[in-house]
Amino acid sequence: MLTLESITAGYGELTVLSDLDITLAKGETVCLIGPNGAGKSTVLRVVAGQLYPTGGRVLYNESDVSGFGCQKKISMGILFVPQGRNVFPSLSILENLHLSRVFISEEQFRERLEDVFLTFPWMREKLQNSAGSLSGGLRQMLALSRILLLRPQLVLLDEPSLGLSPLVVDEVFQIISDLNSKEISFLLVEQNARKGLSVAHRGYVLESGRNRLTGSGNSLLDDPEVQKLYLGG
Ligand SMILES: Nc1ncnc2c1ncn2[C@@H]1O[C@H](COP(=O)(O)OP(=O)(O)O)[C@@H](O)[C@H]1O
Ligand SMILES: [Mg+2]
Repeated sequence: MLTLESITAGYGELTVLSDLDITLAKGETVCLIGPNGAGKSTVLRVVAGQLYPTGGRVLYNESDVSGFGCQKKISMGILFVPQGRNVFPSLSILENLHLSRVFISEEQFRERLEDVFLTFPWMREKLQNSAGSLSGGLRQMLALSRILLLRPQLVLLDEPSLGLSPLVVDEVFQIISDLNSKEISFLLVEQNARKGLSVAHRGYVLESGRNRLTGSGNSLLDDPEVQKLYLGG
């Protein structure tokens, strides 16, 4: 579904990603791990169309989409939830969801909102509450709901567990697994390598914007180097 082929990308003079290869098959969850500054978020920006690669190619369903911007990527089903602060706290939950109306009709919005309530039943009763009144975990779920309204094929998620308590992290990852089993593919960046790799079919360890290791989620969890550097033992 998605292939990053020998990608080079960066910001101005700064090259962040060098010769990077990543693949994701339809229905997979792929998790990127690596130290701070390794370029994980930059990978998501390249796939989302926020940043254009200076070398290599991004293939999506076999088309070269390297030069496509965010709008085009959204229309192709690639949706990005950047790290942190993804809801407007002073707007109500309904108003936050309604922002997706830029891309869909009111009728589609109403219809799809019912689907969102199937995944997040608590939301129906809280629609008029301000998003700022929600806990971090529920805000993350609201941010996810907003993109679910656009019927994504591939969701790019940057550090969904950041700042959440362990119990809430489990809930968020359970939802990722459930959505994944409904055929939504995920490219996930996660500091919590144990959690990230345990929901992922496959993982990549990035170091200084290059491929360091790759393998199934379980094989990376068992890898001594990954254990030492990212799993605290
Ligand atoms: N908007 C930006 N402008 C300039 N440099 C940036 C920008 N965003 C990130 N960087 C730099 O790119 C490198 C990789 O950042 P990032 O992709 O955010 O890493 P990670 O998500 O793995 O922590 C870092 O050195 C960071 O300082
Ligand atoms: Mg990051």
